[in-house]
Amino acid sequence: MILSGSSTQQLAAALAAELGVDLGRVEYETFPDGERIVRVPPVEDRAIVVASTDSSDAHVELLQLQDAAREAGASEVVTVLPYMGYARQDEAFEAGQPVSARAVARAISTGADRVLTVNPHEAGVLDFFDVPAEAVDAAPRLADPLPDDLVDPVFLAPDAGATDLAASVRDGYGRGDTDHFEKVRHSGSDVTVTPSDIDVSDRDVVVTDDIVATGSTMSEAIAALDDPNRVYVACVHPLLAGNARLKLANAGAEAVYGTDTLERAVSRVSAAPAVADALE
Ligand code: R5P
Repeated sequence: MILSGSSTQQLAAALAAELGVDLGRVEYETFPDGERIVRVPPVEDRAIVVASTDSSDAHVELLQLQDAAREAGASEVVTVLPYMGYARQDEAFEAGQPVSARAVARAISTGADRVLTVNPHEAGVLDFFDVPAEAVDAAPRLADPLPDDLVDPVFLAPDAGATDLAASVRDGYGRGDTDHFEKVRHSGSDVTVTPSDIDVSDRDVVVTDDIVATGSTMSEAIAALDDPNRVYVACVHPLLAGNARLKLANAGAEAVYGTDTLERAVSRVSAAPAVADALE
């Protein structure tokens, strides 16, 4: 049985359909003091808990779902983190700071027998779990909504870390070049992006990243393109915090595509088939 977090219901339903398993009707409630609680139906064998942890409340809700699944009879709990929050805090960047990714991974491990997460920011975060943890690659399907008639396309990563992702989307599309820019982050919302030598003039460009959060990286990358034809944005996790969508539109993005690891208006691609493949 699939047990979904409150913010991943669309993906959970798609995954239940892919796997041909029951989709539990979970109830979500909030007490007057703001604390939340979930209620799950009886579980006969394996529970697959699907929950993105894109907020502190979502982290608590996930821990509750795992615990409730055991209470309801689950013999095994497999936790699917479509989007793993705090994964970008994978080291203590300054003295006195925590390794937040490790802290949340350890907490999640207390209630799971196995963990899957979709395109984690760094594969190293998988080592922070105390139970077997693996990554699922949903990136190739980001090519699906792209127009068939892309002109001499370039699949561009805004920094070196997203190069493999850009190659995955290019491979999914079937043709095109890949390249990456260099990025320096000055603060949470201030980045500079330095272009490479690739000539993008009159070519269609698909800028590809794992996460679009504030949209600073993407909009700077688009601004650094010299006379492209059309520009598309493709990301696995469309966090789109604050005015990120406006930044992308103002930068000149023709369209923005993401997956349903985070349910947004741009979530045109489902991660469910990739997750189902890993679970089967
Ligand atoms: C960081 O290296 C990630 O791959 C993304 O580039 C980053 O999280 C995007 O953040 P933002 O949209 O705030 O620039």
